[in-house]
Amino acid sequence: MLRNLLITAFFAIPALGSFAAEDGAAIYQLYCVECHGAKLEGNKASPLIKQNWLYGRTPKYFRRNITHGIPNTEMIAWGKVLSAEQIEALVQFLIDAQSSPPNISMSVPENVQTEDYDLEIEVLVDDKLGNPWGIEFIDERKALVTEKAGRLRWLIDGKLDSRPIDGLPPIFRRGGLMDIALDPNYAENGWVYLAHGHTPDPPEHEKPRALTRIIRGKIDGYRWVDTEVLFQVPEDRYHAGGNRWGGRLLFDRDGYLYFSIGDMARGMASQDFTTPNGKSYRIGPDGKIPDDNPFVGKPRAIEAIFTLGNRNIQGLALHPETGDIWITEHGPMGGDELNILKLGNNYGWPIITYGKAYNGEVVSTRTHQEGMEQPITQWTPSIAVCPAEFVSSPLFSKWKNNLLVGALAYEELRRLVIEDNQVVEQELLFKGYGRVRDVKFGPDGALYVLLNSPGSVLRIVPES
Ligand code: HEC
Repeated sequence: MLRNLLITAFFAIPALGSFAAEDGAAIYQLYCVECHGAKLEGNKASPLIKQNWLYGRTPKYFRRNITHGIPNTEMIAWGKVLSAEQIEALVQFLIDAQSSPPNISMSVPENVQTEDYDLEIEVLVDDKLGNPWGIEFIDERKALVTEKAGRLRWLIDGKLDSRPIDGLPPIFRRGGLMDIALDPNYAENGWVYLAHGHTPDPPEHEKPRALTRIIRGKIDGYRWVDTEVLFQVPEDRYHAGGNRWGGRLLFDRDGYLYFSIGDMARGMASQDFTTPNGKSYRIGPDGKIPDDNPFVGKPRAIEAIFTLGNRNIQGLALHPETGDIWITEHGPMGGDELNILKLGNNYGWPIITYGKAYNGEVVSTRTHQEGMEQPITQWTPSIAVCPAEFVSSPLFSKWKNNLLVGALAYEELRRLVIEDNQVVEQELLFKGYGRVRDVKFGPDGALYVLLNSPGSVLRIVPES
């Protein structure tokens, strides 16, 4: 089948204009050969038969990259030249040309060389999790892992327990079960915190309203008990539709709980302190709102709001020395950001941004505005930056206080060297093993990486 397709592609090129709109091979010959090569082997641009895709490996990303192009490269937005049917034919052509289906993951090697360390990688859980989201270690032996579909499971001595923890409140499927955090005094009080999609509407509702909600509870073996709702917006602030749920959790040094809610595709709402969209939040561990939160006492304000103008915060990391909270944020097409979270700041979305909308429309022509923060760094094209974690593990002493960031679409783990709150160096540690959803150091000092597709857990240590 592969052979046939390629033969069609190379030898049966119809004259310009005479091919059927759906003939992907012929369209490829006309428009793509020059840069990607006659046999898709690469020429001025990279090959298009491979495991290690640079900008996303599933058909969804092929479609997106062809239609909208890749900012800052010579790959233009072909959606302006080709019809949707022609692009679909190209996507199918690329899929058929692969020797294995393009969403099968690249196998994870046992060793990876980086600037400072040869890393040993062990695949603890191999594609057994359904869209895992967050991982937290409760002690040397046990960790808890959330799965988007609404499951919470134990990882014990590096092995995934097949029996889920039951008794969680209903989880709205679209947002799903997101991050997990442990109380800073977990050993004494046992509180476990979760972010999840929640709807106030009955199950049979056709267009249920939904938003991210924050709860805590305790775990008794395989049972979730003592649920307390810590944050939930008033019912009139829920709305139907939209995505970008935020859902990341982090405790700071003072014991406050921070979390994020994305803009749910309502960009301008990110600027409005009476709506929940596009913000970061700060509450006490019991849900109490700190008196000095920036919008306390303002009419109709959602008083848990801590900052404005955050499109979709996907990573929250505590700096081991300064105690600052660093955030990673998804841009639209381009303009993923790294910022430091400060009370009352406005990070500008969607008034200022380094990205564009995926439909090619300009979100804003401005990247700067008085009263709005500039990112510490930004990634264009968007890597779909996700988790962030500072290094303080003694096993990785050469990386002390470096920031690790993972990426979903680009399937990367990067190391950022930071000096005086600036990124002075970035190293790509690995790429193409799967979508990186969470990174945490375990009590053993090893680095644990959660891939959400395939649903795997990696354990990484420097080679001894
Ligand atoms: C003028 C050169 C040029 C042309 C013509 C071109 N591309 Fe690209 N393409 C690039 C560059 C540059 C990149 C990004 C860097 C790289 O892959 O080397 C890219 C990236 C891609 C990617 C993402 C690759 C990855 O690893 O994730 C896909 C898919 C792609 N192109 C498909 C196409 C298709 C289909 C066509 C024809 C409609 C096409 N390109 C035409 C230059 C080109």
